[in-house]
Amino acid sequence: MRLENKVAIVTGGASGIGRETAILFAREGAKVAVADVDLIGGEETVQLINENGGHSFFLQTDVTSSEQIKLLVDETVNRFGSLHIMFNNAGIGNSEVRSVDMSEEEWDRVVDINLKGVFLGIKHAVPEMVKSGGGSIINTSSLLGLKGQKYMAAYNASKGGVVVLTKNAALEYGKQSIRVNAIAPGVIDTKIIEGWKQNEFKWPIISKANALGRIGQPKEVANAVLFLASDEASFITGTTLSVDGGGLTF
Ligand SMILES: NC(=O)c1ccc[n+]([C@@H]2O[C@H](COP(=O)([O-])OP(=O)(O)OC[C@H]3O[C@@H](n4cnc5c(N)ncnc54)[C@H](O)[C@@H]3O)[C@@H](O)[C@H]2O)c1
Repeated sequence: MRLENKVAIVTGGASGIGRETAILFAREGAKVAVADVDLIGGEETVQLINENGGHSFFLQTDVTSSEQIKLLVDETVNRFGSLHIMFNNAGIGNSEVRSVDMSEEEWDRVVDINLKGVFLGIKHAVPEMVKSGGGSIINTSSLLGLKGQKYMAAYNASKGGVVVLTKNAALEYGKQSIRVNAIAPGVIDTKIIEGWKQNEFKWPIISKANALGRIGQPKEVANAVLFLASDEASFITGTTLSVDGGGLTF
């Protein structure tokens, strides 16, 4: 097993990429704290893990709250003894409008969750990882953190911020054996893309806009996160791994 004796936190673990990754982490031997604002989905993820012999618990957590993230880290260490892996994955999209039509409230909300949420995850996880002798932080950026797309101002900016914040944290904590990387998924089949799926004009284009000509599955992203979390990635830090079917090449 690739994560034996490791303790992990997964934010956004109630659904999609986070749920799939939490399940995979547990299958590979990690004890997993599942965090999300979605109580029902989070409890379901934990049930899926624990009924298959894994060890996990759910804590309802809003990643924009420093107090709640601190509590999440403390509770994880209380229950499982330490912390080695932090997957800062919770995120939302934005309504597709031009920048001039985007409200400041929406901008603040998207940046708070997608970027500040990652900052808070790093801020509170690092001290515990130092005590554990090191660790691996993985942050969820996006293909849209690496390229611009019309009508995605807040999302573009927040996910681009995650790429450089990842490099910053890699530099600051590398000497303490903490690796910090990001993933940049392309179009993945989760709840976040439901709106695009309903659009009969856009969807045929969006769903094939990469080298492989198809959308990805959450499991295909979880596999990449597992690699970055594991010791197999021991000399990889500060990077952003695209998991986009070649979306950047398109
Ligand atoms: N699916 C894609 O096409 C795609 C592409 C690129 C990046 N991403 C990113 O992947 C990550 C996971 O998204 P997903 O595709 O699994 O979508 P999803 O909607 O299935 O999962 C996102 C989860 O984040 C949770 N969440 C939202 N706001 C939160 C908050 N304030 N605090 C805690 N949890 C919160 C939601 O409740 C949900 O469970 C996101 O950061 C998203 O931006 C997704």
